[in-house]
Amino acid sequence: MPKQPRTLESKDQFSSSGFILAAIGSAVGLGNMWKFPYITGMYGGAAFFLLFIVCLVAIGLPVLLAELTIGRGGRGSAASSFVKVGGNRAWGGMGMLSVIGAFMIMSFYAIIAGWTLYYAVRAFSGKLFTNPDYTGQFASFTSGYSPILWQVVVLALTAWIVARGVSGGIEKFNKVLIPGLLLLLVILMIRALTLPGAMDGVSFFLKPDFSKLTAESALVALGHAFFSLSLGMGAMLTYGSYVQKEQSLGSATLAIGGGDLLYALIAGLIIFPTTFSFGIDNAQGPGLVFMALPAAFSAMPFGSLFGGLFFILLAIAALTSTVSLLEVPVAYAMERLQWGRTRSVLLITAGCFLLGIPSALSFGAAPGLNFGGKAFFDWMDFLASNVLLPLGGLIVTLFAGYFWKSVGDEAGLSARWFRLWLFMLRYVAPVLVLFVFLHSAGIIKF
Ligand code: PFF
Repeated sequence: MPKQPRTLESKDQFSSSGFILAAIGSAVGLGNMWKFPYITGMYGGAAFFLLFIVCLVAIGLPVLLAELTIGRGGRGSAASSFVKVGGNRAWGGMGMLSVIGAFMIMSFYAIIAGWTLYYAVRAFSGKLFTNPDYTGQFASFTSGYSPILWQVVVLALTAWIVARGVSGGIEKFNKVLIPGLLLLLVILMIRALTLPGAMDGVSFFLKPDFSKLTAESALVALGHAFFSLSLGMGAMLTYGSYVQKEQSLGSATLAIGGGDLLYALIAGLIIFPTTFSFGIDNAQGPGLVFMALPAAFSAMPFGSLFGGLFFILLAIAALTSTVSLLEVPVAYAMERLQWGRTRSVLLITAGCFLLGIPSALSFGAAPGLNFGGKAFFDWMDFLASNVLLPLGGLIVTLFAGYFWKSVGDEAGLSARWFRLWLFMLRYVAPVLVLFVFLHSAGIIKF
C-alpha cells in the first residue's frame, strides 16, 4: 500500500492562549531588542518609531492575518498550505522560498543569540566589567572560534524544545518565557527610567522630529515591520496551521501585533534612557547593545545583575524566535519527506549548524570569508532579510489578495473589516512591499 502522506490534520495543536503566546514569542526577538534600538538610533528616533507603528498596523497586520489564514486553511507546511488552498502546484515552489529563507535566517540568527548567551554569562560573573575596552572585548570574542560553541548551545536548546512537539514543547516553553520576559523587561525599564538624565532618552524615543526622516527611513521601517512580525518566512503560516478552527484570527492578529509593539516600546524605554544617561552614541549600528550597554551597566549599582538580566533576556527572546524558525523546515520535512519529528529536528539543526559555521567565522576568524566587500554573515542576512523575506511577503499578499477566492471564509472577519483587509492586501501592501524589495535588493536607490 502506498504510504499515506502525513497531513497536519491529525497533529497536535496549540491551545488558544498558547498560540497567541507562541506567536508573540516568534515576533519578539533580537529584532525588537537588538535591531530595533539601533535602527531607531540611526534613522530618526521618535519619528522613525512612529513610522514603524504605521507600517506595522497598515501593512504588517494585514499580511500577518493573511499568513495565519493560509496556514489554518491549508493545515500544512509553508509550501503545501499554498497548494492545498490554491489548488495549483506552482504555489508550492513559492512556499519553498520561505522554507529556505527560514533555514538561512536560523543559521545566522542563532549566532547572535549565542553572543547574547555569552554576554549574559560574562555579565553575571562580573568578568565583562573587568576590562573597560568593550569594543575590544566584542571584537576579540566575535573574531575568535568560541561563537561556534555558543551557537551550538542555542541550536541544542532550540532543537530540544521543537523536538517535544507543538503543544508539549513550543507552547509550554512560550507560556513560561513570554510572561517571564515581560516581567524582567519591566524591572529593567524602571531601572533605566530612574537613571539621571533618562528623560532626554525618553524624548529622543517618543517626541517625533519629522525633519529627521528620509525616504530610506520609510523603507527600513517597513522592512523591519515584516522582520519584527516574523512575516514572509513561513513562520506565522506554519504556526497558523496548528490553530484551532474556533479561534478568531482577527483578534489573534491584533494581540500579536500589540504584543510585538509593546516589547519594542519597552526595549526602547530601556536602551535610550540608558544611552542618554551615559552619553553613549545611539547611531553606532549593530554593536550598540554589545559595545555600548556594558559601559552603562558597569557604571550602575548592581551593574552585573542588571547587565546579566538584560543579556539573558535577549537570549530568551531570541530562543522563542529560533523555535519558530526551526519549526518551518521541520514541518516541511515531516510532511514532504515523511520523516519523524525527532529525525527532522536533528538533521535540520545539523544543517543549520553547518551553514552557520562560515557566518560565525566571518567576523574575523577566517578573513577569506569575505566576498565583494561583505562578510559571509552579511550575505546570509542580506539574502534572507532583504531578498527572500520581502519576496515571501509579496507572494503572501498576492496569493491571499487575488488568488485564493474563498480567503474570506477562513479568515472569518465581519464584512467591513474584510473589505478593508482585502483592499490593503490587493492595492497597498504589494506596492509598498515591492518598493522595499527593490530598495533592499539595491535595485532602486534614494
Ligand atoms: N521576529 C523575529 C525578531 O524580531 O527577532 C525574527 C524572525 C523570526 C523573523 C521568525 C522571521 C521569522 F520567521
